[in-house]
This record gives sequence, C-alpha cells and structure tokens, in this order.
Amino acid sequence: MELEGAFTIFLELCLFFLLIFTAWVQINKKGNLPPGPTPLPFLGNVLQLHAGNISQSFTKLRVKYGPVFTVYMGSRPVVVLCGHEAVKEALVGQADEFSGRGKMASLERSFQGHGVVLANGERWRILRSFCLTILRDFGMGRRSIEKRIQEEISFLLEEFHKANGAPIKPTFFLSRSVCNVISSILFGSRFDYEDKQFLKLLQMINERFTEMNSPWTQLYDMYSGIMQYLPGRHNRIYYLIEELKDFIASRVKINEASFDPENPQDFIDCFLIKMHQEKNKAYTEFNLKNLIITTLNLLFAATDSVSGTLYYGFLLLMKHPEVEAKICEEINHVIGPHRVPSVDDRVKMPYTDAVIHEIQRVIAPLGYPHSVTRDTHFRGYLLPKGTDVFPLLGSVLKDPKYFRYPDAFYPQHFLDEQGHFKKNEAFVPFSSGKRICLGEAMARMELFLYFTSILQNFSLRPLVPPADIDITPKISGFGNIPPTYELCLVAR
Ligand code: HEM
Repeated sequence: MELEGAFTIFLELCLFFLLIFTAWVQINKKGNLPPGPTPLPFLGNVLQLHAGNISQSFTKLRVKYGPVFTVYMGSRPVVVLCGHEAVKEALVGQADEFSGRGKMASLERSFQGHGVVLANGERWRILRSFCLTILRDFGMGRRSIEKRIQEEISFLLEEFHKANGAPIKPTFFLSRSVCNVISSILFGSRFDYEDKQFLKLLQMINERFTEMNSPWTQLYDMYSGIMQYLPGRHNRIYYLIEELKDFIASRVKINEASFDPENPQDFIDCFLIKMHQEKNKAYTEFNLKNLIITTLNLLFAATDSVSGTLYYGFLLLMKHPEVEAKICEEINHVIGPHRVPSVDDRVKMPYTDAVIHEIQRVIAPLGYPHSVTRDTHFRGYLLPKGTDVFPLLGSVLKDPKYFRYPDAFYPQHFLDEQGHFKKNEAFVPFSSGKRICLGEAMARMELFLYFTSILQNFSLRPLVPPADIDITPKISGFGNIPPTYELCLVAR
C-alpha cells in the first residue's frame, strides 16, 4: 500500500515536471524575441500584468525594458510596442508584416476568424475592400452622410430640449443617436428612439463594450486556454454577442424577403448581391457568417467609439469651462446661433478642431492587437509568423517627444503661435498602417458635427464644481471607460 502511494506521488511529480518542461520549451522556442520579465510556466507574466489596468502595467514595464518588450499572456508571447517611433516603424515601415490581427480570445469564441475586424489574410483583404467601397457608396466622407448625421443630431437636440435643463445621464442619449447613423447605412433606416427592439439592441451593445473592457474579459484574453472551461462572469460577453448575432440574422431575413438586386437599400443588401453573384464559385468569402459578423463589427466599431468620445469629451469640457467658452465664441463667430453646423466650417474653426483632437488624444485607447503575417525581423529581433503584437496607441498619443504636456488637457498641442491648426504626426487615435480604422472619415465628421451642434444649442453644467470632477477612467482596457456622470444641458 505504502509502495503504491509512493509510486502515485512519483508519477504526479513526473507529470508536474513534464508540464513545466513543455511550457519552458514552448516559451523558449519562439524566435529571438525582445526582452521582458521572466514568465512563470503556464501563467506567463501574471505577476506583472494587472487585468483592469493593463496599460499601467505596460507603462511600468516600458521603464525597465524600453519601448519594445515581450510579455507572456499564459504561454503566449506578445510583443509590446511603445511610443511613436517604434509603432510607426512597425505599422507603417513594415506595414505588410504587421497587418495581421492578433488574438482576442473573448471575441474569437463568437467570431472564429470571420468578419472584417478579426479576419486575416485574403479574407480580411476582401472584406475590408468591400466595406470601404460600400461605406463610400453610402456617402462616407461625403455630403450625403453629412446630411444624415445632421438629421440625427436634430433628433438628439430635441431630446435634450425635452429634459428642460434637468440632470441627465448622457450615455444613452448619445449612443442612441450615434448608433442610428451607422444603422441607417447597415439597415437602410434609423430606429425610432422608443423602438423596443432598438433599446434592447443598444443595451446589449453598451453592456458588451463594458464587458469587453472588464478585468474578467482581460483575464480571459490572457488565459483563455484554461478559462474557456470554467464557468463565470467571463462568459457573459460570449452570450451577449451570440444574442447580437441573432438580431443581425433576423435583419438579414427581413432583407432577403424584400430583396431587389437592382435597388440595394443598405449594406446588407449589397452583401446579399455579392453572395448571389458568387454563389457558384468553389470558394467565396461572401457567405452568411461573414455578412452577420461584419455587420456586427461595423455596428460595434461605429457606435462605441464615437459616442464614447463625445461622452468623455463633455466631461473634459466641464472640467475645463474656459475651453468650452472659447469653442462657443468660435461657434458664434463662424456659424452663429441659427445655422446648422457643417463640415465646411471645420477649417474656419481651428480652436474647436484642436480641442476635438486633444480630447481624442487624452482619452487615448490601448489599441487593438496585431500579429505578424510572416517571420519578421524588427529592431534586431526575430518575431516568428503569427506572433501577437500590441502597438500601444496610448503611448504614442502621450509620447513626450511629440506632446509638450502629455498628461494634461492642452488644446494648444494642436495650435501654432498664430492660433492656426497644427498637425502632429503622433496623433494616431485611429491607428496607422494597413489596419487603420476604416471609418475614420465618418468618425471625424460625426465628432465635429456633434460637438459643435450640441455646444451651439446648450451649455454644459456639471453637478459638482469643475475642480471636483474626476476624469480618471473607470476601467482601462482596449479603450478607456470614463467615470459615470450626470450633467445639465441648459439651452442657450
Ligand atoms: C472616434 C471614433 C473612432 C475611433 C477612435 C476608432 C479607432 C479605431 C482603432 C484604433 C482601430 C484599430 C486599428 C488597428 O487595428 O490598428 C479601428 C478599427 C476599425 N474601425 Fe474604427 N474608430 C472610430 C470610429 C469608427 C467608425 C465610425 C467605423 C465604421 C464606420 C469604424 C470601423 C472600424 C473597423 C471596421 C475597424 C477594423 C479595421 C480592420 O481590422 O481592418 N470605426 N478603429
């Protein structure tokens, strides 16, 4: 009996050392990666990476290892790039090599490499080029979409007027309006603000954004190998996305029922036409899975980012009332109190333009993961094909070489001595290189029109004195989630 017990312990020890050895071999076989903290077997750099504020963990590691270093998320190495030079050298200088999408386990579970955001290789090229063409056909960056945005803003202003200066939580107002702009391209029409299906959709989109940036999801992205088998909160995002996929599938059915290839009404119709044209091909990327997931990608990407920037932007303006006052002066001077703001006004409004750039800079996102598409030599290291790379956009947007006061809110970062708008090459909230945001033109238009139209009509009143407004993000994940707040919008 004793002998049997000793034998079992011996076997367990052998298994334990075998697992450690396997993990060690896995960690050490990977090319010649940049230096970084020593990982633990299986757990990687769990001691150095704090889910919930991963960007702060990276900042600390940068001090020790320099702008290019490696961390292990479990047994998966990730090369982290910090600051303008390193990120530009990779995403622009070696654009092809760094154009792969890195692993996002929490989303991969639902998307399985489909849809423009997570796709790689030929699938990504085809879907990206299709999305760009269709968004342009529906007016992205042109007058027709400007009109749509202006119309949607007028509905929002009406809602703000109804509040009559009482305190409101702006999140829902903003996301309803912004979501309607992309919805009219994807689904051919806007939703009524009280439409129950729309409200449910928005609630799920918002919840998914919060979940995506939550510590649970960050933990899952790091340790999906183990966590995919465990019950718990990290599974919530999966169920939410599955529900959202069902919603898009139901919209596709509606389009199919009234499908007229001669007269496409929206993005879904255009995709259906392609599916129809390529149905006899041996292989095509124009299938139902890519249709549903790409539509969902566009819905998420266009809603969270723009409404989140407006939401955070208003908080920053309340913290800095002197900045709001100067924008209003410019609005009065260039647009006046009655005319609807238009994108043509932007060149005549350098201060407002600079403030919007500064808002985007200060709320700097972490950025999306990339991966290398082939074995890649970079700064004397060798990154084997498929290695994940995190270009930290936040570190570029706060690079002290390019921004005088990186941690302050200082619109003068984008103004010259004469008060003219001044470009800055390290301004990369939309990223750079081949994966650059494909909705940038539309997003820039939206930000300008929303900020100017709202400030033309209302002044922002915080519920606490500006000095007491806390602008620290509630959560820092792929994006920065601002603290929850209420404000009063007082008609001018
Ligand atoms: C303030 C607004 C926005 C910001 C700050 C923003 C930022 C970004 C960033 C940082 C990326 C990742 C790029 C990379 O992988 O390096 C991205 C990707 C993307 N964005 Fe945006 N975005 C915004 C609005 C929009 C809008 C309005 C749309 C759609 C009309 C959109 C669609 C996309 C898509 C589809 C991708 C994936 C591109 C790819 O993987 O090839 N975004 N965006």
